[in-house]
Amino acid sequence: MGEKSETREKKIKSVSDLSGIGPTTLSKLIEQGYSSLESIAIATPQDLSAAAGIPITVAQKIIKEAREALDIRFKTALELKQERQNIKKITVGSQSLDGLLGGGIETRTMTEFFGEYGSGKTQICLQLSVNVQLPNDKGGLEGKAVYIDTEGTFRWERIEAIARGSGLDTDTVMNNIMYIRAVNSDHQIAIVDELQDMIVKDPSIKLVIVDSATSHFRAEYAGRENLAVRQQKLNRHLHQLIRLSEIYDLAVVITNQVMARPDMFYGDPTQAVGGHTLYHAPGVRIQLKKSRGNKRIARVVDAPHLPEGEAVFVITEEGIRDVEE
Ligand SMILES: Nc1ncnc2c1ncn2[C@@H]1O[C@H](COP(=O)(O)OP(=O)(O)O)[C@@H](O)[C@H]1O
Ligand SMILES: [Mg+2]
Repeated sequence: MGEKSETREKKIKSVSDLSGIGPTTLSKLIEQGYSSLESIAIATPQDLSAAAGIPITVAQKIIKEAREALDIRFKTALELKQERQNIKKITVGSQSLDGLLGGGIETRTMTEFFGEYGSGKTQICLQLSVNVQLPNDKGGLEGKAVYIDTEGTFRWERIEAIARGSGLDTDTVMNNIMYIRAVNSDHQIAIVDELQDMIVKDPSIKLVIVDSATSHFRAEYAGRENLAVRQQKLNRHLHQLIRLSEIYDLAVVITNQVMARPDMFYGDPTQAVGGHTLYHAPGVRIQLKKSRGNKRIARVVDAPHLPEGEAVFVITEEGIRDVEE
């Protein structure tokens, strides 16, 4: 993929981007359950034609486009290997944590940090929005970060301190972080909807952070009766982020606050607050736990390509660091 090139083409990201889909066809498709590229990619031309009232030939074309957009085709194992070798990594600032992650946060992947309040989720996000700017040989991607803040916990003062701690020019670093506060879940969804245009216009964006991805959804769709809607909305939102990461070779990092105490209300502490499963989205999940003082423990949860294990790191004034022996 042309990472080095300074342009990004607008690519097909959703059903509405498929060629020849006008508003009427689009609403028919959605009404009939064809609201995702995935659902169109696996449809038969006959079904799609009947559902949307379009000629079979148009349906065939749309299905082909959806499959191409999703890159659904036979690949050799060697191609898969080469695709993985194209994945780039951003250092988190601690060798121990990088080691746990197989070298750092990956592009084309959504990485979730979940854990209790104060476990270091936001500090890691702040650190990553600085580290993405580092030169390649220092563990960065020489890129910019987009920071979607839902809880109002972003602090430019921390960015300044972390940048200074990395020996970087603080104003330059702060200038390369595009910040937005999402006021509610609809706003959060709308921001991500519009992100594609921004990413296409600015190919140097290499990292997208949503801190936290889940809090608005939890607050707005509280209660058992809202569980299904919440899950559906959140799933769609997260899949959109995953799709962006894959298409544009970005790292996406989300956070998710969970209860610290297993005896409180919701059972299993590794599960998200407010229900058994908050969402289903592929990617790498890292659990963070508080330890003594400024020490934190990270653990990988069900990542097929990463070995199980733990890493210990510390949060300092300068950011995320290894524990000094
Ligand atoms: N300037 C700082 N110097 C050292 N540690 C800090 C600093 N700012 C925040 N921290 C540490 O980070 C912790 C908060 O972590 P944070 O990432 O905000 O938690 P959360 O998981 O809730 O997002 C604080 O409890 C503190 O230990
Ligand atoms: Mg936080």
